[in-house]
Amino acid sequence: MIEPVIWRDNQLFIIDQTLLPGECREIPLDTAEGVWEAIRSLRVRGAPAIGVCAAHGAVVALREKAPDSAERAQRVLSNAVEYLATARPTAVNLFWALGRMKRVAEANPSLGPAELEGALLAEARAIYEEEKACCKAIGDNGAELLHDGDGVITHCNTGPLATGAYGTALAVALRAHERGVQVRVYADETRPLLQGARLTTWECMQAGVPVTLLCDNAAAHLMGQGKVHIAITGADRIAANGDTANKIGTYSLALAAAAHNVPFYVAAPFSTFDLAVPTGDGIPIEERDASEVTHGFGAPTAPDGVDVYNPAFDITPARLIAGIITERGILRPPYGEAIQALHPGAAASAAGAGS
Ligand code: MRU
Repeated sequence: MIEPVIWRDNQLFIIDQTLLPGECREIPLDTAEGVWEAIRSLRVRGAPAIGVCAAHGAVVALREKAPDSAERAQRVLSNAVEYLATARPTAVNLFWALGRMKRVAEANPSLGPAELEGALLAEARAIYEEEKACCKAIGDNGAELLHDGDGVITHCNTGPLATGAYGTALAVALRAHERGVQVRVYADETRPLLQGARLTTWECMQAGVPVTLLCDNAAAHLMGQGKVHIAITGADRIAANGDTANKIGTYSLALAAAAHNVPFYVAAPFSTFDLAVPTGDGIPIEERDASEVTHGFGAPTAPDGVDVYNPAFDITPARLIAGIITERGILRPPYGEAIQALHPGAAASAAGAGS
């Protein structure tokens, strides 16, 4: 199964997702700036993969700056964590993973640079392995919801490229398919950067899962035809009340699902929950460059100089969400209580690197 983040021969590589589906190329990342740029420009993307990449990026930064004492190594690490946390604002996994790296350093103030690097690398590897295990569990928990003949609509990309292992929302379809349940994935193309068209369809085709690509604005029509039995998306951050930030267009999909009595689910590991944020109103929404809308993939698609609004994420209110599929089971409303019951420590862990 494809790995978005690779640690090989003691070096960090990622699959450059901006080149897919035309080319599946690994690129090395050997500076903190390179890691920051790769996250910012979506060469590596998807909430869990961003966190995993940044965690390994902290190791890269320490090695790059080559501090010559334990005290300097602590300072380098702390600066690197702060710097990498500025790459993107919405996915809480970035701050959660960097928070873990920071705590390892703080717990080992007397380690020399080489020993600290070893401890940090072990933590980054542990984060990756834990996220992958969560993905498999999410897939297994969610697969119980699918039946032969089901149409599953999804938005953006939430498969192996976004996480490692099976992914989150897509894991549900992938694991159901592996169990012999016959499902069809309907992949929203996901304007403006086409993660659904470029990545989700590619992953489904690699796995042999039947997939149909549609423009985002065809989703309600498809539901009206009775072809969609369930909607499942991932999340970049889930507030304490269950409000969920995910790729722009997710909210529209949830509204369309509600209008057609299609259950709308979110699938995410607990690393994506932020109990420090009471509701979706507190989740920062990234706004990206106008050129993504006016010159997507090269050709001009709007007049020069037009005013553009390009939020990368939106908030789906908890009331539109039938359930949240996690590694520990499917949460049902009211989410405040359900989240607290399964992961009461989430707020403390997300606060580590500040967000
Ligand atoms: O801007 P992106 O491509 O990083 O946005 C990704 C998403 O919105 C995903 O749905 C989310 O991160 C969940 S990934 C398992």
